[in-house]
Amino acid sequence: MAIATAAALLAALGGALWLATRRLVGPRGQRLRGGPDRGLMKGKTVLITGANSGLGRATAAELLRLGARVILGCRDRARAEEAAGQMRRELREAVGSEPEGVGELVVRELDLASLRSVRAFCQEMLQEEPRLDVLINNAGIFQCPYMRTEDGFEMQFGVNHLGHFLLTNLLLGLLKNSAPSRIIVVSSKLYKYGDINFDDLNSEQSYSKSFCYSRSKLANILFTKELARRLEGTNVTVNVLHPGVVRTNLGRHIHIPLLVKPLFNLVSWAFFKTPAEGAQTSIYLASSPEVEGVSGRYFGDCKEEELLPKAMDESVARKLWDISEVMVGIVK
Ligand SMILES: NC(=O)c1ccc[n+]([C@@H]2O[C@H](COP(=O)([O-])OP(=O)(O)OC[C@H]3O[C@@H](n4cnc5c(N)ncnc54)[C@H](OP(=O)(O)O)[C@@H]3O)[C@@H](O)[C@H]2O)c1
Ligand SMILES: *[C@@H]1O[C@H](CO)[C@@H](O)[C@H](O)[C@H]1NC(C)=O
Repeated sequence: MAIATAAALLAALGGALWLATRRLVGPRGQRLRGGPDRGLMKGKTVLITGANSGLGRATAAELLRLGARVILGCRDRARAEEAAGQMRRELREAVGSEPEGVGELVVRELDLASLRSVRAFCQEMLQEEPRLDVLINNAGIFQCPYMRTEDGFEMQFGVNHLGHFLLTNLLLGLLKNSAPSRIIVVSSKLYKYGDINFDDLNSEQSYSKSFCYSRSKLANILFTKELARRLEGTNVTVNVLHPGVVRTNLGRHIHIPLLVKPLFNLVSWAFFKTPAEGAQTSIYLASSPEVEGVSGRYFGDCKEEELLPKAMDESVARKLWDISEVMVGIVK
């Protein structure tokens, strides 16, 4: 009995040690880029949606360090101002007595679940921002219960795809005038389980929260493909990425039983990326000279990756584009 207990304890200890080692010296423990390229984004204006939390926030903090004027497009001004204040403080601590070369943060209200809000936001952008060099469509909602946007769209499709579809279209003129400029779309590997079911884009016949998330992330990729085609020859590029599995607030609608929480926390600590790690591909696509002129591609861990055929279907991409125009009321 005592031997069995001792063995179990030893096994648990060994497991914990292994996890900690993996965490600290594994690939995710490697030091992030930092330092020499400060000033790389000087003079550039970047808009990041959902920049008060998780990946968006980590992306904003790094582009700020690189010298950009970073606009945080967020639905809750108080949460965004708080995040901005904290980012400024953290940067000040990091750069110490040599703050020259760092950029600035600007908070603007943007609720992607409201076409009215998207339009108002873009109008303000066009009036007040002389240029836009990088647009990062990052905000997202994950596996929420059935909900509708202000305009009656299923929430995940409405926010992750349609809100960003309208936003991008309304800012396209500004991006073209600022060329060479870049659009970056944050999708997910879970696109693989999605499908663009044109007969029920609003999920009125049936709703599956996981299917609808995957569908919205597949829509992000098809949108990127079609937009890249439309932007050929403009010097505006658009690429899409998956960040990996990252410890953020994205799982807020997922219920984890209280007893399982410590185990979940341990596993996520050991195996999930930190937001700063997960944001590396967004930062790379937004700032690296290596991807200048590259467009219509899918990236993970700062490298191009292959897509399933369903994410490259040109006729589905075109049809989705046309229907999205009608849904958000873009008149030509
Ligand atoms: N975390 C992962 O493992 C993972 C994996 C694959 C892909 N992704 C993608 O990464 C992106 C960022 O997610 P995250 O992991 O950083 O999650 P997060 O911490 O929950 O951040 C999501 C951001 O989106 C914002 N947002 C949600 N609904 C919005 C709306 N209606 N209007 C404007 N902003 C809205 C949130 O604002 P509030 O704070 O106000 O709610 C928040 O700022 C998402 O597109 C997600 O699909 C994440
Ligand atoms: C795109 O950039 C190239 C190289 O800088 C330039 O020669 C060309 O005129 C640009 N095209 C447009 C449409 O701005």
